[in-house]
Amino acid sequence: MTTTLLDGIGLLYTGDPEREEIEDAALVVEDGRVAWVGHSRGAPGADERVDAGGRAVIPGFVDSHAHLVFAGDRTAEFQSRMSGRPYTGGGIRTTVAATRRAGDAELATRAAALVREMLRQGTTTVEIKSGYGLTVEDERRSLEIATGLTDETTFLGAHVVPEGVAADDYVRLVTGEMLQACAPYARWVDVFCERGAFDGDQSREILTAGIRAGLLPRIHANQLGEGPGVRIACELGAASADHCTHLTSADVDALASSGTVATLLPGAEFSTRSPYPDARRLLDAGVTVALATDCNPGSSFTSSMPFCVALAVREMRMTPLEAVRAATYGGARALRRTDVGWLRPGSRADLVVLDAPSYVHLAYRPGVPLVHQVFHSGLLLEE
Ligand code: NIG
Ligand code: FE
Repeated sequence: MTTTLLDGIGLLYTGDPEREEIEDAALVVEDGRVAWVGHSRGAPGADERVDAGGRAVIPGFVDSHAHLVFAGDRTAEFQSRMSGRPYTGGGIRTTVAATRRAGDAELATRAAALVREMLRQGTTTVEIKSGYGLTVEDERRSLEIATGLTDETTFLGAHVVPEGVAADDYVRLVTGEMLQACAPYARWVDVFCERGAFDGDQSREILTAGIRAGLLPRIHANQLGEGPGVRIACELGAASADHCTHLTSADVDALASSGTVATLLPGAEFSTRSPYPDARRLLDAGVTVALATDCNPGSSFTSSMPFCVALAVREMRMTPLEAVRAATYGGARALRRTDVGWLRPGSRADLVVLDAPSYVHLAYRPGVPLVHQVFHSGLLLEE
């Protein structure tokens, strides 16, 4: 087995809470896994040596919330929002219509292009949701396409109630025939719990049906206003409650005393010109926070985790360390993964070499392409 020594790392952010930062570091990769991490002066020998040239290294980003299977775009909706119209989620139906019209090959090619765009920006693990099909077959094929791109697939048949269908009938479909068709392709079940989408009772029913079918729950909660979503997530032991923009003190307490991660999606607030969630309040209460892109054509058409890190630091009262931790370790917690999101012996050798001396530059130099190299399972991404 070939071993590779990545040496000359100016500052290594490991993501491992036991030893988060190492200056003048090195790392050994063997068979796609991290075999050793430490100071370069103690590094063991290896078959090959790569010099990081004093650059900083971080784990590959874990983007735990993305909607990548869709057709069309919503440029016009974005333009009208930037001239004052509010975001309501109603535009989801525009994307549903375009997605239903598209062929499988078009949907797969577009989703793969977004995954590639993410990888170039340092994202080595991504979660992908359905939710723009909203028929049994369109949700099933969306998830089948997603399984070709990631292990982290999420059934979001309960995104909105499609046009011309009664809400009760749709909940019955989502918890019945649609769930049966989709469960073989999904690891997670999700619901958009929000005024105008699904209420608390419907959300609980949908997540519970998913759990019974063997899926793990996660939820879109408290994005546009206060509501029951976060409390339902904690009650059902969801891995993550996503958005968490409008929280009561009871919501913060519930998150703090549960194992549920709060996944914050600042790209959505940026692109909908809305107030950002208060990460400081969550962190101070002891909540585990993740950052993700929410990449989708409506509320957040960015694939860039570095952009989200910069927003989180500038707008959400996070320190650069907390933001990078949330974008790596936090994302892994939100997906219940222990093999990614950190660099320690045994973890997958997913790492990003930054064209910067420190991970702090991700926030300090916003908008600058700082990703120098990406390794996925120990393999260097070729352009
Ligand atoms: O996470 N909130 C619901 N779903 C997406 C938006 C989807 C859309 O507008 O197309 C979100 O923001
Ligand atoms: Fe979302």
